[in-house]
Formats: sequence, C-alpha cells, structure tokens
Amino acid sequence: MQPTAALGRFIALEGPDGAGKSLQAAHLADALRASGHVVMQTREPGGTALGERIRDVLLATGDAQRTPESDALLFNAARSQLVHEVIRPALERGEIVICDRFAGSTLAYQGYGSRLDLAELRRLEALATGGLRPDLVILLDVPVEVGLARRARGAAGELTRFETSPRHDAAFHERVRAGYLKLAAADPGRWHIIDAAGDAGAVTDQIVRSARELLERSEPYAALLRTD
Ligand code: TYD
Repeated sequence: MQPTAALGRFIALEGPDGAGKSLQAAHLADALRASGHVVMQTREPGGTALGERIRDVLLATGDAQRTPESDALLFNAARSQLVHEVIRPALERGEIVICDRFAGSTLAYQGYGSRLDLAELRRLEALATGGLRPDLVILLDVPVEVGLARRARGAAGELTRFETSPRHDAAFHERVRAGYLKLAAADPGRWHIIDAAGDAGAVTDQIVRSARELLERSEPYAALLRTD
C-alpha cells in the first residue's frame, strides 16, 4: 500500500461485551459533528456489503463446531473489506473515522479469550489492514459481571453465537477483559482506558475529551504510513 498524505483521524472503540460501545460511539460522533467535523461512523464486523454478510455468518447460532481459527479468519476478512472500502477512503478525504470494535477485538477475544497465538493474529491483522492502525483506541473497561448483566438487560432480540456458546463463559470474558487491559498497558500512547461502569454521560464526556486531545495534536497523520 502506498503511503498517503491524509488528514483524517482514526478512532476505535473497544471493550468487553456490555461496555456500552455502540451508544458511546454514536454520542462521540454527534459531539464531533456538532463542532463541525465530518465523521464516518462504522462497526465491526460489518460496515460493508460483504462485511454484513460475514457478520450474519459469525453471529448466527447453531454451529457449535466453529473453531476460533475460523472466527479469526472471518473477522479479518470483514476487516480487510472495511479498511479497503470505508476506512482508508474516509481518512484520505480527511474525515474522522469512528469504528465500533477493530483489530483489538480479535486480539482480546480470539487471542486472550480463545487462546490463539497473538503473533499469528497480528500477522493476520497486518494482512487485513495493510498496516493501518487507529490513532486512538478507547477502551471502555467494565467488570465482567457488570458487562454481562447489562448485556442481558439489553438483549431484547435474538442472542448471538457469542452470547450462547458454552465456550464463551465467565472465565472467557475475564480473559478478554484482562487481555484488553494488557494491550492498553503495552501501548499507552495509542490506547486510553476509560472506566465505563458508571454514569453514561460522564463516560461520554471523557471519550469526547480524549478525542479532542487527539484532534489538537499537531503531528501529521501517520497511521497510513505505518507498515509494522
Ligand atoms: P456485537 O453484536 O457487535 O457485540 P457488541 O455490541 O458487544 O460489540 O457482536 C460482536 C461479537 O463479536 C462480540 O461478542 C465480540 C465478538 N468479536 C470477536 O470475537 N472478535 C472480533 O474481532 C470482533 C470484531 C468481534
């Protein structure tokens, strides 16, 4: 992929199930739009025609045999398409991209949660993204029991395979949360941890502050230049 001089910014929201990412992504997009920014809001898995079809396959229940390796490949297939069709073009137009989950989810869920090799997952990620990484990853951290209780309250529709599989028990979710915290600790310049257990409005304020700090940084956009 050729380096591109682009002015956009790429923000990913990550966190365990029930952290409130989708709601907070919408609030962040509203706040940035209100101050005049052009925002592209998208999500993983999904965000493209192929990605939404892969999402249906990934989340459908009834396939107890599905391996974490298959999941990792499918999430990355959807990611590749999203980077190519949506994220890179928006960044090249100078927009702010807000993505509800990105590559951190695969490291946390398939890596720490399902214990796939992290180095292999990072190679797969590089293939899918062409080296594109978020400028800022906001980790909405909640204790597992709080997240799972919120998820149960919010689950008005059908439950997904990730919510019904016996492999995804409380211990799995504890590994996911601890994995996220390790990823954040290893890259504090990019990751920002926000305690998402409390009041949603206060969480939004912190997220917006963190995004504004990123936008005020004067360095030229660098994510498209990275190949590591
Ligand atoms: P979704 O309905 O989008 O859940 P949430 O609102 O919690 O984001 O379902 C996505 C599920 O897929 C969620 O349980 C996390 C999981 N997931 C992975 O395991 N690996 C990944 O790379 C991604 C993007 C998601």
